[in-house]
Amino acid sequence: MQRLHAKIRDIPDFPKPGIIFKDVTPLVKDPAALRLSVHQLLHPFLGREITAIAGMEARGFIFGSLVAWELGLPFVPLRKPGKLPYDVQSVSYDLEYGSAMLEIHIDSLDSGDRVLLIDDLLATGGTAKASCELIEKLGAKVEAIAFVIELDALGGRDKLHGYEVHSLLHY
Ligand code: PRP
Repeated sequence: MQRLHAKIRDIPDFPKPGIIFKDVTPLVKDPAALRLSVHQLLHPFLGREITAIAGMEARGFIFGSLVAWELGLPFVPLRKPGKLPYDVQSVSYDLEYGSAMLEIHIDSLDSGDRVLLIDDLLATGGTAKASCELIEKLGAKVEAIAFVIELDALGGRDKLHGYEVHSLLHY
């Protein structure tokens, strides 16, 4: 994990003064570190009954689609409003900085699906909670949620009470 920690860059005052942004671009730029992070993300779920991987825009797409590729499973993108071209379900949520909305294509999951949700970072948990709501609106089950980074002090894990939550790196 030290190797992954070393690839996370702190950017002070981004996107707003007072926020220290955890930048994963050095990690994704390093093929060995990226591969390690993807294998660590999927490892707890080997042999589990997962039928789809969902990832949140934007960095959840990077890690989520690589996990889906490795497991040979479908990838479902959860996107910011107005980006998905077909019929959508929507949900609003609070962010660490501001508020936002996420959408999912209504035909992207079925009621029998058991979904592993992937994102780069858990902060307040608003994005992940909204993502769970979207998945459940389609009748699918959230099997677990896996993050590369968890900001422990922001209490996102509490907001996700009742869900199985995994994080590779804690700050
Ligand atoms: C970041 C991060 C998570 C979310 C976590 O995305 O990638 O998706 O915030 O915050 P939360 O736990 O407080 O909800 P961001 O909103 O910066 O969007 P982006 O990936 O499109 O830049």
